Amino acid sequence: MPGIAVIEGDGIGKEVIPVAKLVLGTVRPDLEFFPVEVGYGRWERTGEAITSEEIRAMKEADAILFGAVTTPPDPDYRSVVVRMRKELDLYANVRPVQGGDADIIIVRENTEGLYSGIEEVGPDRATTVRLITRRGSERIARFACGIARERRHLTIGHKANVLKADTLFRDICIGIAKEAGVTFQERFIDALCLDVLQHPNNYDVIVTENMFGDILSDVAAYLVGGLGMLPSGNIGDRSALFEPVHGSAPKHAGKDTANPVAAIRSAAMLLEYLGDRRNAARIEEAIGRVMASGVKTRDLGGMAGTREMGEAVAAALAR
Ligand code: NAI
Ligand code: MG
Repeated sequence: MPGIAVIEGDGIGKEVIPVAKLVLGTVRPDLEFFPVEVGYGRWERTGEAITSEEIRAMKEADAILFGAVTTPPDPDYRSVVVRMRKELDLYANVRPVQGGDADIIIVRENTEGLYSGIEEVGPDRATTVRLITRRGSERIARFACGIARERRHLTIGHKANVLKADTLFRDICIGIAKEAGVTFQERFIDALCLDVLQHPNNYDVIVTENMFGDILSDVAAYLVGGLGMLPSGNIGDRSALFEPVHGSAPKHAGKDTANPVAAIRSAAMLLEYLGDRRNAARIEEAIGRVMASGVKTRDLGGMAGTREMGEAVAAALAR
């Protein structure tokens, strides 16, 4: 019986994750869910957003389903998400952008780059180190090539024309793509952000450094109807965490208006990770059928509430 750690987090995480759990339970009644609390709510209650206790619970799970957390107004606050990614060594952030003209998988390095955490803040000068290592670049390039080998080709997104660190990243990615026999192209990240919107068909698997991938995937969300649609996986060699790309969207919290599709799709990715491709595909197919029947949340021009949308997907699966 696979054990799934479920972290709702804050804001709309508390609405979309129960819906994703409902859909998961419909296709896989054998899954065992256990709740783990991290985030702003926990910080308000206890003064700590996350402790080693929660990290341990996550390490014990077969997979983790995560909503989103709100960043508290605390200058010394250390990002919960960055801490989880580092401690569980979830080095590959996989963000499929699929729908309409797009069938793209963005593979973002998830542990270093501009989110290295190496920072110095003074009154007149602040620096953040953008760390690129051979080990970090090799493993993300291998991961991306592993996906690209089963698909069409790889695009390496970088800014090697300006950033010295990116020549290392680019050269390592090229070396590994050649070694793996993967067809590849390279693009400067700024031009890539525009071209991906104009010619989504030219892209298949895209590999980038941490922050470039963060920005590129929010940009590419435009192709598929916005952030409410985009799922993601954070994958390491021993743990994996699945979450919508969006955050806790406090403006929408508690209103039953958030789109749960990103969270439901993240649950489908979790099943795929557990080796259950059949049910992952069934969930994707059910989402497509429900949306085609006109049931959509407000961000996509529909009228359905969060819960109603999730129940429609669960009902489509039960039919
Ligand atoms: P956000 O993704 O929460 O929301 C941005 C806007 O996108 C929302 O105002 C809303 O209009 C739209 N949106 C996002 N998800 C939606 C959904 N499911 N349905 C309908 N519309 C949706 O990003 P924002 O506003 O920058 O951040 C809010 C909080 O979330 C912050 O505290 C931030 O730190 C946190 N955050 C957490 C993340 C995580 O836990 N992985 C990721 C991104 C942000
Ligand atoms: Mg982001």
